Amino acid sequence: MSPRGEALEINVIVGVINGKGGVGKTTLAVHAAGWLEAQGLRVAFVDADRQGSATHWLAGARPQMIVKPYQTAADILDRAPRLAMMYDAVVIDSAASVSAESAAVAGVADTLLLPLAPSMLDIQASYQMARLIHRVRIGRPAEKPRVFTVLNRVQPRSRVAHIAAAAIFKYGFAVARTALCHRMAYVEAAGKDRLVWELGAAAKPAARELNDLFHGVLGNGSIEASGGETPGLHSPESILQSTAKARPSGEQTSPIAQ
Ligand SMILES: Nc1ncnc2c1ncn2[C@@H]1O[C@H](COP(=O)(O)OP(=O)(O)O)[C@@H](O)[C@H]1O
Ligand SMILES: [Mg+2]
Repeated sequence: MSPRGEALEINVIVGVINGKGGVGKTTLAVHAAGWLEAQGLRVAFVDADRQGSATHWLAGARPQMIVKPYQTAADILDRAPRLAMMYDAVVIDSAASVSAESAAVAGVADTLLLPLAPSMLDIQASYQMARLIHRVRIGRPAEKPRVFTVLNRVQPRSRVAHIAAAAIFKYGFAVARTALCHRMAYVEAAGKDRLVWELGAAAKPAARELNDLFHGVLGNGSIEASGGETPGLHSPESILQSTAKARPSGEQTSPIAQ
């Protein structure tokens, strides 16, 4: 049991991938690492993106965290699992590509997170990655669903999120119960090289939804859910309910959400 009370598996690898850029991979990966560390785990980070955004962000937000620049498929396949034997958890942030490198991340990760903006164009653009994930993970049927699509930048009560959740469902992956809303706190965190938990009262809704998300896909929530028939799998309706509950204030609604 970790100091914060989550009974977490150790020596796990959490991968974050999507062939598209700007969907929230780095935001999700950096916060996943921070959340796992806050649960009492010793966490190492692999920045597989040559742009190095996560490396830069973590240098400010978590200067003590080990960050490795493994950017080739060979390094990811060989070195990330070895790193995971030395740490409780390894989080991998990926470049925006459907490539040997992203296939390697899909292959080594125990839990794979696929962030998606709830736009049909983004979802269509991710089909190729979804097929790749299926290919790479074929033959691992005994696993609980460890591939979660995570809806990001959702406008509360948006019809688009509902349609998007239904489309993602066709991938056959679990859809994380908690979607992340479009919030300035995420942009501010990146700009200040901080994590949202450190931004004070204005960032509380973001902090809360990230806690809920990670509890569900990385923490006790996923372990408990694995006893069920379709662990972690949520219908578009339940996603809609969870986004309807979230009401960020003072934020503009983008045209796509209307
Ligand atoms: N939920 C969100 N709400 C608002 N802005 C977000 C959200 N998630 C990510 N962003 C912003 O979108 C941009 C792209 O996010 P990033 O995590 O760098 O994506 P990727 O790594 O997939 O390219 C960044 O400016 C980030 O701050
Ligand atoms: Mg990135």
